[in-house]
Amino acid sequence: MRKPDPAAIYCASLASALPQFLLNQKEEGQETQVPIVGDEVGAMLQLLCSLTRPKQILELGSGIGYSTHWMLLGWPQAQITSVDANPDRIEEARGYLTQSGGLPQVRLVAAWAETFLEQPGGPYDLIFLDATKKDYPNLLDQCYSLLGPGGLLVVDNVFYQGKVLSPPELLSDKELAQAQGMDRFNRKVAAHPGLDSYFLPFGDGLLIARKLA
Ligand SMILES: C[S@@+](CC[C@H](N)C(=O)[O-])C[C@H]1O[C@@H](n2cnc3c(N)ncnc32)[C@H](O)[C@@H]1O
Repeated sequence: MRKPDPAAIYCASLASALPQFLLNQKEEGQETQVPIVGDEVGAMLQLLCSLTRPKQILELGSGIGYSTHWMLLGWPQAQITSVDANPDRIEEARGYLTQSGGLPQVRLVAAWAETFLEQPGGPYDLIFLDATKKDYPNLLDQCYSLLGPGGLLVVDNVFYQGKVLSPPELLSDKELAQAQGMDRFNRKVAAHPGLDSYFLPFGDGLLIARKLA
C-alpha cells in the first residue's frame, strides 16, 4: 500500500481555507483532467510571491490560469504575463480570472513559448515554467536573460514522476523524450554559474533558481 504523503495531506487541508473561486477551478480542472499544479506547489508559488513581491511575472504554460491565481494570492499587485499554446485554455483562464477579479493584473497570450520569446518584454522578477518538458533545455538561456538580478526561475515537475533518471528501456518514446529533456535541463541549471539553484523534493520536484546578478 502507498504510504500517505503528509505534505500533500496538510496542503490539501489548507486548501479548504482558500477562496471559493480557486476551489471551484481546482475541482473543474480535475474533473476535465486539465493539468494543474498540486496544492503544495501552488502554496509555494503563493509563498514565493508574498515574500518577494514580484512586479512582473512571466508564466510559460499557464493552462486554465490556476497557477496564475496562486501567484496572485501571494502578491495581488503583480503584473502577470501568462502564455499558453492552447487558445481554448487561454479563454478558460480569461473566464476564471474574470470571475475572481484578477483579470486586470494578467495579460493572457495564446502562443507557443518559443514564439512569444521572440518579443518577450521584461525584465521579469519571477518566471514560472510549466510547459512541455522536452523543450526546457532550449528555453533556459532565454529565461535566464529575461530575469532581472535576484529574479526567480521556478519550474514544476523537474523529477518528471520520478522518471527523469529511469533506464530508457522502461519508458515509452514520448516519456523518454520528456525525461531526457528534463534531465538535460536540470543538469544545465545545476551547472549554471549565474544561478543559485534548489531542487526541492516535493510534489513532482520543484526547482527554485535565483539569478545572482
Ligand atoms: C501542466 S499545464 C499548465 C498548468 C498550469 N500551470 C496550472 O497549474 O494551472 C501545461 C500547459 O503548457 C502548455 N504548453 C505546453 N508546451 C507549451 C509551449 N511550448 N508553449 C506554450 N505553452 C505550452 C499546454 O497547452 C498546457 O496548457
